Amino acid sequence: MRTHAPFGRRLARVAAVERVGGYDLIWAHDAEGPAPRPGQFYMLAAEDRWGAGEDERPWLPRAFSYCRADDGRLGFVLEDVGPGTRRLGQLRAGEGLWLTGPLGMGFAPPGNGRPLLVGGGIGVAPILCWSDELGPDARVLLGFRSGEYAAAAGLFRTEVELATDDGSAGRRAYVTELLRQELDADPVATVYACGPPQMLEAVRALCAEREVPAQLAMESGMACGFGACFGCVVPTREGYVRLCVDGPVVDAADLETALVAGSGH
Ligand SMILES: Cc1cc2nc3c(=O)[nH]c(=O)nc-3n(C[C@H](O)[C@H](O)[C@H](O)COP(=O)(O)OP(=O)(O)OC[C@H]3O[C@@H](n4cnc5c(N)ncnc54)[C@H](O)[C@@H]3O)c2cc1C
Ligand code: FES
Repeated sequence: MRTHAPFGRRLARVAAVERVGGYDLIWAHDAEGPAPRPGQFYMLAAEDRWGAGEDERPWLPRAFSYCRADDGRLGFVLEDVGPGTRRLGQLRAGEGLWLTGPLGMGFAPPGNGRPLLVGGGIGVAPILCWSDELGPDARVLLGFRSGEYAAAAGLFRTEVELATDDGSAGRRAYVTELLRQELDADPVATVYACGPPQMLEAVRALCAEREVPAQLAMESGMACGFGACFGCVVPTREGYVRLCVDGPVVDAADLETALVAGSGH
C-alpha cells in the first residue's frame, strides 16, 4: 500500500538517539507527516555536516525503513556502514533531520491463515512495525550475526524466535533454517521478509518450493527515492521496476531471484 508523501522534504527535530546493541535507534518528531504503512521508507539527511566535510560526503540523502511510528514520532534503526549512516548515528536530541516520506509500497495484508515474519540483521526495521500492527498471532523469526546485534530483538512487543550465526543468542543457525522448520510444521498464509539478499533469496526459494506467498522488502541504491533517477531498478519477470515506487516490498513470485545486482551490503 502506498501513502503519498508531501511534495518536498521537511525538517524534523531529533527527539532521541539510543544505542541498541550494534545499532543506532533514532527518534524524530514528525507530527505533521502522513501516517506511514509498514514496509515504507524515508529519505534522510542530517541538517548539518551532511556533505560539507573534508571528503565532501555523504551529499545525497539515504533510504531507511521506519521501524515504529508512535505519538507523532518516527523511529529508524540504523547500521553504521558508511558516512551517511555514521553521521545519522551521531545526531543528538534537538538537531535537525531532513526527511522525505513516507515513500514506496508497504506490505499488503496477509491472506487467510497465519502470517509469518522473518527479519535478518538490519532488515529487522520494517518487520518491527509490521509485527506491532499484526500482533502476537504473527510469529516472528529473527536472525543476527551475534548476540550484540540480537539486542534489537528486545524492541519487539511480542515473543520472537531468535537465531545467531555464532550461537551467542538463541539458536546457532541461519534464520532461514527456522523458517524451513516453520513452513514444514504448519500451514502459513504469507511470509514477510527483510534482510540481506542471500537471506531473501533463500526465503524466496523455500516459499516457492512450498507454494507459499511471500513479500520481500528489498534494497537497492537510491539517489532520489521517488521515481526520478532510475538508479534503483531491479529485474522482475515483467521487466525492470523502480524499487522506490514499485517497491521496496516486492511479491516474491515476480522475481527469478532476490539476488539483484547492487542490493544489500
Ligand atoms: C528501501 C530501503 C530501506 C532501507 N532501510 C534501512 C534501515 O532501516 N536501516 C539501515 O541501516 N539501512 C537501511 N537501508 C540501507 C541504507 O540506505 C544504506 O545502508 C545507506 O544508504 C548507506 O549509506 P552510507 O553513506 O552510510 O554508506 P555508503 O558509503 O553509501 O555505502 C556503504 C556500503 O553500503 C552499500 N550500500 C549503500 N546504500 C545501499 C543500499 N541502499 N542498498 C544496498 N547497499 C547499499 C554500498 O555499496 C557500500 O558497500 C535501506 C535501504 C533501502 C533502499
Ligand atoms: S531512487 Fe531514484 S528512481 Fe528510485
